[in-house]
Amino acid sequence: MNVLIVGGGGREHALAWKLLQSSNVEQVFCVPGNGGTALLPNCQNLPATEEDFASIANYAQEKAVSFVVVGPELPLTQGIRDALQRDNIPVFGPTQTATQIEASKWWAKSLMQEVGISTANGETFTDAAPAKAYISQQGTPIVVKADGLAAGKGVTVAETVEDAHHAIDALFAANTPQVVVEQCLTGQEVSVIAVTDGIAVRPLLPAQDYKRIGEGDTGGNTGGMGAYAPAPLMSSQLLKQVTDTILQPTINALRERGIDYQGVLYAGLMITPEGEPKVLEFNCRFGDPETQVILPLLETPLEEVITACLDKRLESLPPLQWLQKKALCVVATSAGYPGSYEKGKAIAGINQVKDALVFHAGTRLDAEQNLLTSGGRVLGATGLGDDFDQAADQAYSAIAQIHFSGCYYRSDIGYHVRYQS
Ligand code: AMP
Ligand code: GLY
Repeated sequence: MNVLIVGGGGREHALAWKLLQSSNVEQVFCVPGNGGTALLPNCQNLPATEEDFASIANYAQEKAVSFVVVGPELPLTQGIRDALQRDNIPVFGPTQTATQIEASKWWAKSLMQEVGISTANGETFTDAAPAKAYISQQGTPIVVKADGLAAGKGVTVAETVEDAHHAIDALFAANTPQVVVEQCLTGQEVSVIAVTDGIAVRPLLPAQDYKRIGEGDTGGNTGGMGAYAPAPLMSSQLLKQVTDTILQPTINALRERGIDYQGVLYAGLMITPEGEPKVLEFNCRFGDPETQVILPLLETPLEEVITACLDKRLESLPPLQWLQKKALCVVATSAGYPGSYEKGKAIAGINQVKDALVFHAGTRLDAEQNLLTSGGRVLGATGLGDDFDQAADQAYSAIAQIHFSGCYYRSDIGYHVRYQS
């Protein structure tokens, strides 16, 4: 079969690489893809933007793809599933209505509060004055969030009432229509990414990502500077609890509301000091760079998992098989990211990497087939090992072999699980 992937980041390179390992998958097409997917055997980039649903539908038909996998949230929230479904093209991903679980934090929180899913208590506001009054009454620390998609930039964890009020003013000044103010949770964060056919739900291995630009989790938020899996914090017992008390009830509640949620349900969780999992956010897509550590550990062919979801027979799919190893991914960025950065820097050394997987993100090939930087997050190296130290050594050795002007990466990815012995 042929498959089309929408997106052009490290997550999509990992999806293409994983799908092509399956003997049933002959050819993968990426719209728009990146330098890594351009170089991947049996993979071809096709020129169009992620939001150009008409071109994507044409390509899907022309290339006779069996299904389309959508990486980023934007095309999903803009209704790519609904649009392609009108042409009978199967899409692994939720409908536009269902993507509100990520696109509106208040929609998601209301659903959780109605069903009794554990999450931070909160309120929503469309005006600054009542929001500020609520903050003064609740006290700090407190969390202020933009209701809509904000690429990780819409959240302030405020230590003082003044900071929280300032965050409210800043959001309304930026014409944010609605904000959510919620209780500040403490504990350790972990991501549980699950696949669902709208009836059953199967968690993949739990992962932890590193969102901040600076070492020791300091500085601005990014798309993700690294990740590791499986997160030991999430024991199999806790994962079962998350499945039974968070993931499955969410899918059931959506179904009861007539929403066919098929695709990926990603729960960003806080494990409180008491060991209780609480939902920080839901996403309607695979995580990036979590995908780059989860998929290399998945032994079950990904295309079998996806087709089970598309055919609504996930319940009867045999248990997912996992490699008994650890994976750790280190992301290299352009200087200046997550602020402004330069593009077009030559990338050298990738071919020297032997022991790690290199997933491209912001890279492109020029007319002479030179590999150049073209984004903030340029690439990630995933190492696999019997323990996290070994996985980290592989990832960091790979990153050290790769060169481009202004290359930056965090040297402490996985510090929660490294140096333990
Ligand atoms: P979100 O986009 O909602 O996941 O928020 C981004 C980041 O803000 C999370 O990964 C957490 O580090 C932090 N955060 C969000 N909500 C809370 C909360 N209620 N309590 C503490 N930290 C939070
Ligand atoms: N790594 C965080 C995300 O994909 O949302």
